[in-house]
Order: sequence, then C-alpha cells, then structure tokens
Amino acid sequence: MRRIIDKTKELEKRAMHSERLAFVGTLAGGLAHEIKNPLSTLNINLQLLMEDVQGMTGGNSKKAFAKIQALQKETQRLEEILNDFLRFAKGQKLELKDHDINEVLDEVVDFVTPEIKQKKILILKSYDADLPPCRIDSNLIKQAILNIIINAEQVMENGGELMIRTSRNKKFIQIDITDTGAGIPKNIIDKIFQVYFSTKKTGTGLGLPTTKRIIEEHKGTITVQSEEGKGTNFSIKLPVDLRIY
Ligand SMILES: Nc1ncnc2c1ncn2[C@@H]1O[C@H](COP(=O)(O)OP(=O)(O)OP(=O)(O)O)[C@@H](O)[C@H]1O
Ligand SMILES: [Mg+2]
Repeated sequence: MRRIIDKTKELEKRAMHSERLAFVGTLAGGLAHEIKNPLSTLNINLQLLMEDVQGMTGGNSKKAFAKIQALQKETQRLEEILNDFLRFAKGQKLELKDHDINEVLDEVVDFVTPEIKQKKILILKSYDADLPPCRIDSNLIKQAILNIIINAEQVMENGGELMIRTSRNKKFIQIDITDTGAGIPKNIIDKIFQVYFSTKKTGTGLGLPTTKRIIEEHKGTITVQSEEGKGTNFSIKLPVDLRIY
C-alpha cells in the first residue's frame, strides 16, 4: 500500500513538473513575441538614424555612424536569437505528404551548394535509388537536415568532404550525413542535443535540438558518432509508412 501511495505521489509530482515546464515554455514564447515588436521598431529607427547621419558632414559623424552600425548589428543578432527560439518553441502541426527522401535531400544540397563550394568542400552523394515514399513534413525535414549540414560546413572551414547517404530496410529509411571535420570531443558529445549548448562564438545552440525535435515528431531517431580528428556522422532513421505496402 505504502508503495502505491509513494508511486502516486511521484506521478503527481512529475505531472506537476511537466505542466509547469509547459507553462514556462508558453510564457517564454509569449515573452519572445512581445520583445520582437519593439526590437523591430528599434531596428527601423536605427536604419533611419543611420541615413540621417550619413547626410551629415560634421567631425563626429563618422564615429556616430560606426556606433549606430554596432547597435544595428546587435539588434539584428537579438532578432536572430528570438527567431531561433520561436522556431524551436513552436509546437508545429506536421503537414504530412509522401515524398522521395532523395529529392528532399537534393533540394537542401542545392540550397547550400554555393557556400559549400566556396569553402572547397566536396559533396559526395550515395543514394539508395529504391527508397519507398516517406510520409513527412518536407519543410521541417529540410530544416532538420539543413541544421546538420550547416554544422558540417562550419567545422570544415578549410575544406573537406560532406557525404550524404540514404539506405533502407523494412522498417525505416536511413539518412547519414558525414563530415571530415575536427570531430566532437568525447566530453561534450552527450551535450550537443541540449538546448543552448554551443561551443561557437556566435552559436545559439538551438540547431541540433531543433533537428532532434523535428525527427522525433516524425517518430524517427537521430544518433551521432564522432571521432576526434577524423569527422562526425549523424544518422537519422525515419519509419517507413507501413500503409504503403
Ligand atoms: N559536425 C559537427 N562537428 C563537430 N562538432 C559539432 C558538429 N555538429 C555539432 N557540433 C557541436 O555541437 C554543438 C551544438 O550544435 P548546434 O547546431 O545545436 O548549435 P550551434 O551550431 O553551436 O549553434 P546554432 O546551430 O544555434 O547556430 C556545436 O556548438 C558544436 O560544438
Ligand atoms: Mg548549428
């Protein structure tokens, strides 16, 4: 009996905790929205101020211009942080349609190709030509893949290889994205999917948590293998829709 009571109490506590978490999430989302409007007013006025100062010729006008520029950069950074947060916090409803995963991947690759080429990164593709259609929200999956590719790109500033593979078995379609960057140190690999974990100067740390959330919303999984000095591989598994067969 005592054990049942303890268990009930524990469950109640957990329910309260998750309710509170959801509530805090809603509050934070609301707060981020509220901050966005004054921030964009700030941005617009800084732009106008900049134009005013540009027209001036006085001795200090150049200095004033530089200061406004710095302010503008910071407000834009704040806007980015808020947008990333809102994208992460928003519990979106999936718009599921049948898609060819290879085509979806190609669209993401096309999007990043100019930048990737500039960094002398070689893109290698190895697609399973026989994939069944996959029921996904393609915009969200593209976002999820893009976050991984951007990370790969950032870790191969001096060139490297980006390998994108697809394969399948009866139960799932697998996407592997491998880079030849510096790899992820062992002591941080458990943290990379945590919200706001970043080792980058201007990283928000929402890229991988967003990716993970999107994949899990599709009932899929994401795992990482990495070797320092060699590179990193992210594997995504998306369930094959059994109704297709
Ligand atoms: N391909 C990779 N190679 C090495 N380290 C990586 C790789 N991908 C992610 N990481 C590590 O995981 C951390 C978290 O990645 P995540 O994408 O969530 O955030 P971020 O890239 O730092 O910032 P954001 O994506 O919000 O701009 C990175 O800061 C980096 O340390
Ligand atoms: Mg990132």
